[in-house]
Amino acid sequence: MKKILEIKNLETAFRIKDDYFNAVDNVSLDLHSNEVLAIVGESGCGKSTLATTVMGLHNENLTKSTGEIIYDGKNLLELSEDELNKIRTKEIGMIFQDPLSSLNPLQKIGKQIEEALVYHTELKKEEREARVIELLTQVGIPNPQRCAKQYPHELSGGMRQRVMIAMALSCKPNIIIADEPTTALDVTIQAQILDLLKQLQEEMHAGVILITHDLGVVAEMADRVAVLYAGEVVELGTSEQVFQNPQHPYTRSLLRSIPQLDGDGNEDLYAIEGMVPSIKNLDRTGCRFAPRVPWLKEEAHEKNPSLHEVEAGHFVRCTCHKHFTFEEVGNND
Ligand SMILES: Nc1ncnc2c1ncn2[C@@H]1O[C@H](COP(=O)(O)OP(=O)(O)OP(=O)(O)O)[C@@H](O)[C@H]1O
Ligand SMILES: [Mg+2]
Repeated sequence: MKKILEIKNLETAFRIKDDYFNAVDNVSLDLHSNEVLAIVGESGCGKSTLATTVMGLHNENLTKSTGEIIYDGKNLLELSEDELNKIRTKEIGMIFQDPLSSLNPLQKIGKQIEEALVYHTELKKEEREARVIELLTQVGIPNPQRCAKQYPHELSGGMRQRVMIAMALSCKPNIIIADEPTTALDVTIQAQILDLLKQLQEEMHAGVILITHDLGVVAEMADRVAVLYAGEVVELGTSEQVFQNPQHPYTRSLLRSIPQLDGDGNEDLYAIEGMVPSIKNLDRTGCRFAPRVPWLKEEAHEKNPSLHEVEAGHFVRCTCHKHFTFEEVGNND
């Protein structure tokens, strides 16, 4: 598979008062065409910051990004706003969690989709209108002609999310970044939207970065998984490697906290103790997950934890995983 995006040593820091604090720390990841790479981690781990950095959606006065995001031979971090505008939507489409805040409430759906086509394609008016209907049909909207004439608030949440997908796909991008694309929807609609995304991704051979905290979704959709904790990748591998053979204590904790499909619903659900530290209060020395596994001795952790390859293509940060078993996760005695 062809490598279509190469993120190298990426750091993104936010300014808080007079200091900058990294929300994404030294992240290196590749994306291939025709693959779904999931980014998982609890709230506040830096998933959205990673996505918005790739899309160049940060205010330069409040944010600093260093490293490289190589797309088509160019480092996206070095491009001007104009150059980025040519790439966004056309080459890299993005689907956000909340379509209402990303769609223009005052403009009809058809017009909004058409705008991307005006900007990025040479299509004539009639061709654009036909393409809008084609896109709305493709994402399973029952009456596309009617939908094109409606305003966002007239649609249900599921339909709005389909519209967002239609917009993201309008120019057949090589890359789709989907940040919690279904979190706001109920479970049945979630499944439909994810199936749709997967089907369209396969048809277009696009590479997808799928951000979610739902590991069920990951198991279903992703080819590879990157687990993010406190801005760092702590584990990376194929879905099979990460689900069948999780290494990092954080990954193991995440996996233990999903409800079992074959359970009777009465078992106690495991919750990871503590929470993700804020970027301001984060101790950046040593293993960042150490405070949440207090039963693990200090010596178990590396002083400067780096990513180790434990099997081909499967990486884990720190050596603390060698010091306990999967069953021991959550055993805080
Ligand atoms: N504009 C900002 N200014 C300052 N800090 C920010 C800003 N945006 C995000 N952060 C901080 O950066 C860290 C990462 O936030 P981010 O939104 O990327 O997390 P996330 O993994 O997407 O979480 P969620 O699952 O809740 O969406 C958090 O500590 C957050 O408080
Ligand atoms: Mg987020």
